Amino acid sequence: MTSSSMSRTSSPARMRSLVRGWRGGGRRVAFVPTMGALHEGHLSLIRRARRRADRVAVSIFVNPRQFDRAEDLERYPRDLGRDLRLCRLEKVDACFTPAAGALYPPGHRTEVRVTGLESVWEGASRPGHFAGVTLVVLKLLHIVEPDLVLLGQKDAQQAVILERMIRDLDLPVRVLRAPVVREPDGLAMSSRNVRLTEVQRRAAPVLHRALVRARRAAREGERSPARLLKRIRREIEAEPAVRLDYAAVVDADTLEPLRRMEGRVLIPVAAFLGRVRLIDNVQFRLP
Ligand code: PAJ
Repeated sequence: MTSSSMSRTSSPARMRSLVRGWRGGGRRVAFVPTMGALHEGHLSLIRRARRRADRVAVSIFVNPRQFDRAEDLERYPRDLGRDLRLCRLEKVDACFTPAAGALYPPGHRTEVRVTGLESVWEGASRPGHFAGVTLVVLKLLHIVEPDLVLLGQKDAQQAVILERMIRDLDLPVRVLRAPVVREPDGLAMSSRNVRLTEVQRRAAPVLHRALVRARRAAREGERSPARLLKRIRREIEAEPAVRLDYAAVVDADTLEPLRRMEGRVLIPVAAFLGRVRLIDNVQFRLP
């Protein structure tokens, strides 16, 4: 197969019949949903998909429903030509690029809510965000009908919520979570990084640095989530270009604050650098 043989379609019906054809022929299909502006984080998901399946489908759709700020939606980077080239280079088999009108025709009213999990942390700072994510991902899964869907640990809360939705609604799809891909200085790759000024870009790795130090402290025996949080806050707030939105020490499955340092620990953080909002996290297990 040559690299030019990628199918691209904006039609949900065409996308569905393409994948049904593959699966009918006994092919295993993996799906990577994205909002485009592809970077190494996305490409790592695509490469993992390649290793796990016979066919790889990618969606590129800047989902208006999940943006809580009009400004963020307007400024979201878009370069479909470049994204399609990258997909071809990665030997993606099908790229689904629906128009907003095709997914949300006039009269669309249905919502999908994963209660509780959707309203904390990112959900508290970005009202309605996860309702937009669950709605679009449920729709995409119904259109594509893959065997496997790949999600990035970069968006840990999103992955927890989507895994919960998939279990709760008995969707016949397996989930694979992929680790966070970072720049050499530790900054988690994100489509929003291109909007950072030089000064902000230099300050941004403080998020990862603070998280790594917290993980080390926890592993070396720090037993108090409150003390750990204080350290993280102090370290991030010492950076003048960064305004911390939240940091938390939570159970990696329930997202509830930990009272004791044990089990599967997730430490999510979010911060503003100017008008750009970045998120990051570390996840680890304690005995
Ligand atoms: P987007 O931000 O484009 O991310 C698409 C996928 O790539 C998500 O699963 C995300 O977690 C993963 N990803 C992003 N940056 C990453 C990094 N540095 N390392 C590893 N994985 C990374 O997340 C979304 O789009 C949307 O909410 C979507 C699920 C597509 C629904 O619209």
